[in-house]
Formats: sequence, structure tokens, C-alpha cells
Amino acid sequence: MRVIENPADFPTLEGTVGFVPTMGALHDGHASLITAARTNNDTVVVSVFVNPLQFNEPEDYDNYPRDLDSDLKFLSELGVDIVLAPTVEHMYPGGGPIVTVSTGEMGTVLEGASRPGHFDGVATVVAKLFNIVRPHRAYFGQKDAQQVAVVKRLVADLNLGVEILAAPIVRAADGLAESSRNRRLSPAEREQALALPRALEALAEGADLAHVRARLAAEVDVDYLVVVDPETLSETRERPALALGAVWVGPVRLIDNREI
Ligand code: PAF
Repeated sequence: MRVIENPADFPTLEGTVGFVPTMGALHDGHASLITAARTNNDTVVVSVFVNPLQFNEPEDYDNYPRDLDSDLKFLSELGVDIVLAPTVEHMYPGGGPIVTVSTGEMGTVLEGASRPGHFDGVATVVAKLFNIVRPHRAYFGQKDAQQVAVVKRLVADLNLGVEILAAPIVRAADGLAESSRNRRLSPAEREQALALPRALEALAEGADLAHVRARLAAEVDVDYLVVVDPETLSETRERPALALGAVWVGPVRLIDNREI
């Protein structure tokens, strides 16, 4: 496994290239993306870069877990060929970029409403990473459905020519979408959190949105529960569509989504 720090040293690769962008702190969710990339491509590239542009709270950026040595061990066990692990100075020499990607309305709704600038930061770094790695396919988790939609739109609008693949949400036996945040739920809170996948399931079965939202709000603190067009993220009554929810259970904010 080759580890590259400076994007200028990144080689031109032969054959198909599968790319998994990450911010490190790797877990099983990343492993499933890497396994999918390994199955379908000649070369698998993973980036590990905590992108300051997508944090709107400096404290969150500073406290983001970083352990490159253990990430590299994890990646070599998964048979990754190349790891791109640049420093901030390599990615943004001389400070922040002047030219950035704007994600417009799509980046300001839902998750973007509570994280101003987040999706512009994601789109900017993903565009840069795609230009460095030149992948044929890139893999993202469907759990972050808005990120998937924004990245697909980035690729279409800027003709980046990368196929975007979304790996299905991994659920625990009780139906809760897997997340490192679940560890912070007490057994009673975990029981409460199940109201979110239940609400999404009810929507998939055709229940009325206002009714499901009211029932969810009786159990947890709802940030949003919407049914949107998966490409534009605008609310829709058409089907198929995507149901998206974000709730607070005690101090933990959880997101989930489901095709309906
Ligand atoms: O999902 C993430 O980990 C990040 O948003 C990404 C796509 C690696 C961009 O920094």
C-alpha cells in the first residue's frame, strides 16, 4: 500500500480506479465502501483528509478524531492500493481557496440549515480530490443522502465524469441505522430512537406525512421529517421519493433516510 502526502506526487493510474474519500476515524461503514470499490475496480484509492472547509464550528474541526496510524493499518488490511493523506497546507496552500464550489439551495436545506457552508466545503474538497485521483467510480454512504445528492449534482454540473455509487445504509437488528453516535444512547434512548426508522417505514407504507411527523414528535425532538425528490431534494408528493429525517434523542442527533 502506497501512502501519498503531497497531491503533486499522485500517479496517473492505468485501468479502473475506485475512490473512497474519507475524513479518517475509519469504521465498518467505510469498510463496506472500500470492499465495494475493491470488487469493481483495478485500483482502490482512499483519501484521509479532515477538511476544514466543511466545519462551521472551529471546535468541531479541532476535536475531530485523528489517528492516521490506525487508519493506515485498517486500510492495508482491506487491500487498499493507495492512500492519499495530504496535510491542510498541501490541499489549501497559502490558506483557504479563492475559487470554491457553491451548492446553492441544495446545500442550505435539511442538514445544511444547521451547518451553514458545510456542503459548499464538501463539494469543494470532493472536486479537488476527484481532480487529483481521477477516479472512474467514487463510493459514498447512502446514510448521508444529502451529501450523495450534492456530489451527484457536482459531478453533473461540472462534467467531472465520475460514477457516484451509494452504499446502502447498514441497520442493526432493531432497525436503527448504524452510526458511531449510537454508542452515546442509553438503552432507554435507543428504544426511543427507533421511532425514526419506524416513521420512515410508515412513510414507505404510504402513511400521511403530517400524521407520521406528529407521531414522531410525540416520541423524540424532530429537526425535520420530509419526503423529497432524491435528485433535487425539493419536497414532493411524487413517488418514488426519499424520506429523510433528523431527530434529537437526548443529546444525540440522529439522521436516517429511506426510499419510498
Ligand atoms: O463524508 C465524509 O467523510 C466527508 O464529507 C468527505 C466526503 C470525505 C469530504 O470531506
